[in-house]
Amino acid sequence: MSFATGLRCTRCGRLYPLSSYDRDCLTCRDVAPSALAVEYDAAMLAPRPLLPGGVGLWRFGDLLPVDARDAVSLGEGGTPLVPLPRVAARLGLDHLWAKDETREPTGSFKDRLACIGVSAARQRGARVIVSSSSGNAGAAAAAYAARAGLACIIFTFEGAAGPPVTQMRALGAMVLSVERSEDRLPLLAAGMRRFGWFSTSPFTQPVVGSNPLALEGYKTLAYEIAEAMDWTVPDWCVLPVCYGDALAAIRRGFTDMVALGWTKRVPRLVAAEVAGSLGAGLASGDDALPDVRLNAPTIATSIGASRGTFQALDALRRSSGVAVTASNDQILDWQATLARDEGMWLEPAAAASLAALAQLAERKVVKPNDRVVILATAGGLKDPSRAETKIAPVPTVPRDFDAALTTLRRTYGFDARAESA
Ligand SMILES: Cc1ncc(COP(=O)(O)O)c(C=O)c1O
Ligand SMILES: [Zn+2]
Repeated sequence: MSFATGLRCTRCGRLYPLSSYDRDCLTCRDVAPSALAVEYDAAMLAPRPLLPGGVGLWRFGDLLPVDARDAVSLGEGGTPLVPLPRVAARLGLDHLWAKDETREPTGSFKDRLACIGVSAARQRGARVIVSSSSGNAGAAAAAYAARAGLACIIFTFEGAAGPPVTQMRALGAMVLSVERSEDRLPLLAAGMRRFGWFSTSPFTQPVVGSNPLALEGYKTLAYEIAEAMDWTVPDWCVLPVCYGDALAAIRRGFTDMVALGWTKRVPRLVAAEVAGSLGAGLASGDDALPDVRLNAPTIATSIGASRGTFQALDALRRSSGVAVTASNDQILDWQATLARDEGMWLEPAAAASLAALAQLAERKVVKPNDRVVILATAGGLKDPSRAETKIAPVPTVPRDFDAALTTLRRTYGFDARAESA
């Protein structure tokens, strides 16, 4: 049974009914636009025994805003916490894991959001799902809408082609492209106003976050991490951050568990960002975040927003967190290192978490003994274009084994004789 009772502004605490999931806080709008977050009956967060074992996100249905009996599911959640010993050694750390969200049904952590969002939409009788996305969020919305038998409209922008757009279309979504990325939100908002379309993605300008019901799905990341660590929590959780949906919600997941008596504390959160808006916000102490224009295009397009959100800033402040900017070169380097050392190839945006951690380890903010989890939000096949430009073309060889050996040596420096047992 769901214990959700309403929505509360993350900044001023003003209460709204659950039906206000399609707005930001009216009180804060002119000062520091802020997201609403789901408020639960106190009974939900009373100490209680651990959940029974099992796999999947819906095990945590009692802590979510949608009843498990209304689930639209593709088997999401229950992803592994994969140790990264070689990369840890490079960083001078003893304990490092990746929460591997590349294994979600559509290949990214956005499935946790879309699954709860589309389930809530169907429960409320919505007929159309809408999303403003150039990538993972749209692919996830398309899959869950298809699963629910609902129409799905996605507004994307020119130049955002690539695998996730193909994925959206293959999954039956109606994809429309506008010239500039900022032109998407007014269109989406018009559909919400005029026809009651249910948005799983951001819907306000400036963006405060995605649908507050949907983003509760990310709390399950925290529950699963703690469970995999035998109901302890890491010292640090590092997340690639765009609008900070996952950052804000994972913190709530960790605080839920303290209230439930399952764990004792909340980890320090790290926002790996590319523009640096959150870092500037933390430094200034203001609640309104600056718009930080990038000098050159980022390769981590999924987290390319120039302005952070209050919900992300708040999550960092409340968790003694830090924001770190990751450059294109750092992201490419750590993306390649993680792939070669550990067999885990991430989308550039996801690899930003490792690029940020590397800086904190070097600065000794993260100590060798600290236990660290990075969120591996999506896999390399979501955006292979940048890796392809870095990798030399595949050499062609004749049907001649000696010629193949010569090419292995010349191109890859591999000496077959030296490597034979
Ligand atoms: C791969 C990947 N990582 C991280 C993010 C950041 O998302 P959030 O809005 O939760 O900060 C996104 C968002 O699109 C993404 O696609
Ligand atoms: Zn408010």
